[in-house]
Amino acid sequence: MGTTTCNGSVDGSTVFYLVGIPSLPESFFLPVFFIFLLFYLLILLGNALILVTVVAEPSLHKPMYFFLINLSTLDILFTTTTVPKMLSLFLLGDHFLSFPACLLQMYLFQSFTCSEAFILVVMAYDRYVAICRPLHYPVHMTPQTNAALAACAWFIALLLPIPAVVKTSQMAYNNIAHIYHCFCDHLALVQASCSDTLPQTLMGFCIAMVVSFLPLLLVLLSYAHILASVLCISSREGRSKAFSTCGSHLLVVGTY
Ligand SMILES: *[C@@H]1O[C@H](CO)[C@@H](O)[C@H](O)[C@H]1NC(C)=O
Repeated sequence: MGTTTCNGSVDGSTVFYLVGIPSLPESFFLPVFFIFLLFYLLILLGNALILVTVVAEPSLHKPMYFFLINLSTLDILFTTTTVPKMLSLFLLGDHFLSFPACLLQMYLFQSFTCSEAFILVVMAYDRYVAICRPLHYPVHMTPQTNAALAACAWFIALLLPIPAVVKTSQMAYNNIAHIYHCFCDHLALVQASCSDTLPQTLMGFCIAMVVSFLPLLLVLLSYAHILASVLCISSREGRSKAFSTCGSHLLVVGTY
């Protein structure tokens, strides 16, 4: 700390060096490139198919499917903030990222993953109202309510990462700061700095709680209610119908 090289962001001279996958030999870069490229194309194609299908098919114009295209949009967005740079890293050995680009990547990645988590909570709430309060459903979950819930999820997720980004940008870095990761993630950036990392590590922990633990808890809570009401349905068809309406959502939550 306080050495001439550790001058931080103030004069903007810091450049980040993305190591990629730590301790992966250079000879594996090309195969890794093709694997990432394949997955990236599959993600783009799969989500584009979902988007086109839901928009084109009027029978799918229901809340659950609108939320699904929110998730598809977010999937495309957050892979696109990280994967293209990773591809150029593994194909061309293009390891460098400017200071603003790195912070922008961190901000967008965090914001899109937050939105994704919140949309999953909103979807669980939608299923909760549909199954546990079926009579209230048409009144409660109007298109306006859905749009407002989705807008809230996006808006909060745009604001939430700001403190972490600002704090991280104020840390001190070497002129060339090594990031032992394939993209600019909050904790990877914190570890790359030469400031005291403890406050930021705690902040990262709090973010992780808000972004993954809390949504998971809410989703589980909603499903506990759903399970309790489904178990009270006496008819077999009634039960399997209720389960089938949330099966697809459980699958998405599981993969997330
Ligand atoms: C997200 O979902 C809302 C509510 O169903 C919908 O109004 C909106 O068009 C969706 N937005 C995107 C980008 O998918």
